[in-house]
Amino acid sequence: MQGGKRYSTAVTEAETDPSGRESHPFLQYYGQLSHQQNMLQDLVRTGTYQRAMLDNPLDFKNKVVLDVGCGTGILSIFAAQAGAKKVYAVEASDMADMARKLVEANGWRDVIEIVKGKVEEIELPEDVDVIVSEPLGFLLVHERMLESYIVARQRFLRPASVNKRQQMFPTVGTIKALPFSDWQLYHDLQAKSQFWHMNNFYGVDLTALEGNALAQLFSQPVIGYFDPSILIARDDEMATHAIDFRTATVEELAVITMPFRYRISKTSLMHGLACWFDADFLGSQNLVTLTTSPRAPGTHWYQVRLLLAHPLAVNSGQFVSGVLTMRVNKKFSYDVVLEAQVEGTRETIRSVNHIALHDPYYHYLNPSAAASYQTSSSSSWGHSANATWGGATGQSQNHNYEEEDDVSSASAE
Ligand SMILES: C[S@@+](CC[C@H](N)C(=O)[O-])C[C@H]1O[C@@H](n2cnc3c(N)ncnc32)[C@H](O)[C@@H]1O
Repeated sequence: MQGGKRYSTAVTEAETDPSGRESHPFLQYYGQLSHQQNMLQDLVRTGTYQRAMLDNPLDFKNKVVLDVGCGTGILSIFAAQAGAKKVYAVEASDMADMARKLVEANGWRDVIEIVKGKVEEIELPEDVDVIVSEPLGFLLVHERMLESYIVARQRFLRPASVNKRQQMFPTVGTIKALPFSDWQLYHDLQAKSQFWHMNNFYGVDLTALEGNALAQLFSQPVIGYFDPSILIARDDEMATHAIDFRTATVEELAVITMPFRYRISKTSLMHGLACWFDADFLGSQNLVTLTTSPRAPGTHWYQVRLLLAHPLAVNSGQFVSGVLTMRVNKKFSYDVVLEAQVEGTRETIRSVNHIALHDPYYHYLNPSAAASYQTSSSSSWGHSANATWGGATGQSQNHNYEEEDDVSSASAE
């Protein structure tokens, strides 16, 4: 995987050891430093985690901390910097060996103990006061690592008492969604399926598969930045779904239902829902928020757009309602159903689409390209965008993509 793209289950089946020895596909992926580097280089992410801990020393000073999925050990080191007396850094992949090396080289050997194994299976000699982790995927839930975070709480977090503060960092994750209109994206997907419109491809009529090709394209979540001007409802109409990691259960994550009702602010074609998430660190002293909003500096989670294969024509002031339903699947992700309908029409105008969250379609991974194509009247939108991003946001990460407006899931690596 190059640049800041997150682990994609679409490629991992091929990566999985054919002997079946690795029951979870992330082990090989996260065992490579280049993938850990991608996450570390997301400075919004890494910097916000450090600030959340250092700005809340009361939650860490002399506390016992568990880091779930420590990777290189970066969050464990932040916890130690914030004053933790002991940190158990649990990592399932071979990255655990690198974490041990980094921790020792930075002089934290007496505080941080690396525990190699899955948090569901390892044992610790004591319960902990605080759990830190970065288990966040596209649309918050992709990769299903939140489940491990919750299991860690159930297994190891010390029951709250008068003297002992109990903390989960992050504390709450919130999925957010607004309707969008983006005819260029829609047109691009339609154009991609035109290949199947050929009735004489080496003497073969391909048109029988045209509908299937289109359906498959529209079943992919679109990962990338976009200009917020494509949003067609006001922020205060936003649909949200919050997961409180202090109380959530694994069962509650099995099916996530997000009803929505928007008053449309712009006469347009509604092409789907634009989604992102926030993670809040509810520290005893300070609230710190990691946001992946399109109005904030970009992160390696980008934003996610869920499409309607059949857009809805909407007038300003009309209401669109519906529901987003997400069900866990065996690909460490979610099967998503988006149902939307225009209210107040004599005949029901309704659109439904099925989306496989584990099969991303990467589009506009460069924020400046996303901003410029909205205002450009040229037909060459996006294709000439610079593939190396220094960041309109001032981040120092580099994303090197072959063709950044059109990288299919098959090339997510
Ligand atoms: C998103 S990365 C975060 C790494 C590091 N904490 C950071 O913030 O840079 C998640 C890490 O958790 C590990 N992991 C995922 N599920 C795990 C589990 N059930 N038990 C232990 N480690 C796990 C992965 O191997 C990966 O290194």
